[in-house]
Amino acid sequence: MTSRRIFVTTALPYANGAFHIGHIMEYIQADIWVRFQRMQGHEVHFVGADDAHGAPIMIAAEKAGKTPQQFVSEIAAGRKRYLDGFHIEFDNWHSTDSPENTELSQDIYKRLKAAGLTYAKPVEQFYDPVKGMFLADRYIKGECPKCGAKDQYGDACEVCSSVYAPTELKNPYSTLSGATPELRTSDHYFFKLSDARCVTFLKEWLDAPGRLQPQVANKAREWLEGKGDQALGDWDISRDAPYFGIPIPDVPGKYFYVWLDAPIGYLASFKNYCAKKGIDFEKFLTDPDTEQIHFIGKDIIYFHTLFWPAMLRFADKPYKVPDHVYVHGFITVSGEKMSKSRGTGISPLRYLDVGMNPEWLRYYIAAKLNANVEDVDFNPDDFMARVNSDLIGKYVNIASRCAGFIGKRFDGRLSSVVKNPLLSDIQAAATEIAKLYEAREYGKALREIMFHTDNANGFIAQVKPWELAKQTGQDAALHQCCTDAINIFRLLTIYLKPVLPKLASQVEALLNVKPLVWSDAQTWLPEQHAINEYKYLMSRVDEKQLDALFELPKETPTVTASTPHPTSPAKTEEATNVAATPTINIDDFAKVDLRIAKITNAEHVEGADKLLKLTLDVGTLGTRQVFAGIKSAYDPATLIGKVTVVVANLAPRKMKFGLSEGMVLAASGETPGIFLLSPDSGAQPGMKVK
Ligand code: 2FM
Ligand code: ZN
Repeated sequence: MTSRRIFVTTALPYANGAFHIGHIMEYIQADIWVRFQRMQGHEVHFVGADDAHGAPIMIAAEKAGKTPQQFVSEIAAGRKRYLDGFHIEFDNWHSTDSPENTELSQDIYKRLKAAGLTYAKPVEQFYDPVKGMFLADRYIKGECPKCGAKDQYGDACEVCSSVYAPTELKNPYSTLSGATPELRTSDHYFFKLSDARCVTFLKEWLDAPGRLQPQVANKAREWLEGKGDQALGDWDISRDAPYFGIPIPDVPGKYFYVWLDAPIGYLASFKNYCAKKGIDFEKFLTDPDTEQIHFIGKDIIYFHTLFWPAMLRFADKPYKVPDHVYVHGFITVSGEKMSKSRGTGISPLRYLDVGMNPEWLRYYIAAKLNANVEDVDFNPDDFMARVNSDLIGKYVNIASRCAGFIGKRFDGRLSSVVKNPLLSDIQAAATEIAKLYEAREYGKALREIMFHTDNANGFIAQVKPWELAKQTGQDAALHQCCTDAINIFRLLTIYLKPVLPKLASQVEALLNVKPLVWSDAQTWLPEQHAINEYKYLMSRVDEKQLDALFELPKETPTVTASTPHPTSPAKTEEATNVAATPTINIDDFAKVDLRIAKITNAEHVEGADKLLKLTLDVGTLGTRQVFAGIKSAYDPATLIGKVTVVVANLAPRKMKFGLSEGMVLAASGETPGIFLLSPDSGAQPGMKVK
């Protein structure tokens, strides 16, 4: 088999918040694929980076009283904990706000310009005279031109659902300063995606067999071939100062729109890595054998299957077009949809903090993933059942039943394996399982592995080594059974290793073997091979851990600005830039009954490692008991007498320790600490916060 050279990326996360479970799912998907390829002996370079630029990050940084650079570097500092925690092994993590990205973005732009694929054109847009900046639609609100509803965003009315241009809003105002925006004109730079050269190239690129999942290629073709107001438009790639981005060469005061330099960040991270490793970046990219593969979510198909390949193609060598873009769906939790900026009900850090094994999640996610663009649901009961039954009940069970006898009865040494049909079957499965991993059909791969694991358990149950061990004269049979079982366990470990790298390394230590690679499945452990003493390999999921995972308010309430992007070319790029956080209207906000509360008592809760029990005086609403996850930050004694804010109309929640009748508000972020909110002095218990 010839060795492949592969460059793999995952979508670059906005540097405005912690990773949520959706990011972790994508990284796990790609990491499994990368590990599998490495086990095949291929050369793989797997890189990521923070997507640092754009107006939302600039504004969030300003609000936080930081420079954008400081702001994004603080976010970046938190990444390692997640990546290490879930065994996600990027070779390099970089940033789009980097010298490499500036150089590459400017170079690609200059080449596109030289190819006649860019042009400038005046664009009229709202301008905030107080902030001194042009406003993306999400920063403009006003009255709906159709139904008159107040406080509607610049692109669509949430009350009557009509779609309009921001200039049609009545009494518009800037959400940044409150000022009335003025219409001003400035030159914008465009990438000519509608140019016949781009269209011809993209048709060909999309048609390449096996390049994209069929549903992804079809979607992209629909965009490419759109007619009338659905026609493929040129792409506005510039933004006016002030903007946190990369300056456009020779055009003072203009910057690249964040989505231009974001995918170039893949190359920037790779270039940065090449410099560290002594790899010739240009040579690597121009090598016809190099494969460039991007894993992304279904919401960013448009950028990755139209703009990105076209930019790369017409920037020409050394740039190369992607060989594949592999798209996955979203992750839901118990069927609930995830929010782009807040994630879902599962906080990845909390998952780790409550002591849950990251490999359980890797296994569960892998078991649910296939090669289609389908959403994956995390269901806690299913999670527990599947992990406990497959990993502990079936897989680990093989070693725990047989390894001990080898140690105790045979001085740790194996006999020679008997090639019965069961063993040859499991060995022969290597080819099929490899095909499934290659095709990202992880769910099918794991089902195949579990089918063989079941057979192995059937064999052990039939031979009953624990009975043989009690009988005299059965030593040879016992030795044979356990040797076969250990050899089977080794094969299954090879097959599971891309998903369970840590467990596999524990097994390698137990079996006293070098790191397992795929071709090892063609061999058996030799006679007399000595294995080490069996040590506990993996614990079962405990229901209490799942309770703890869902016990607290969800993701950390850090900054949540984001720069979403078009999912359909029918809308203009700016018009589809929805709000930084999922927006609510004033009526939604009014549903939350926020009240001033005085903490009259605070105490530890027996058996709870995160919670304190608070008694609150909420004025006319009476006394409330609330469990708050602030134990790590506060000594209960210091809380008594403090005044804070409580969500008074949250449905009471029955917890293990009693009823919680509300929620106190606290801030937390990437850096340690939980900070209870407190009102200015004078606020009285029961007062409404609005
Ligand atoms: O949608 C997002 O989260 C973007 N930050 C993804 C960018 S992917 C690539 F282009 F960098
Ligand atoms: Zn309306």
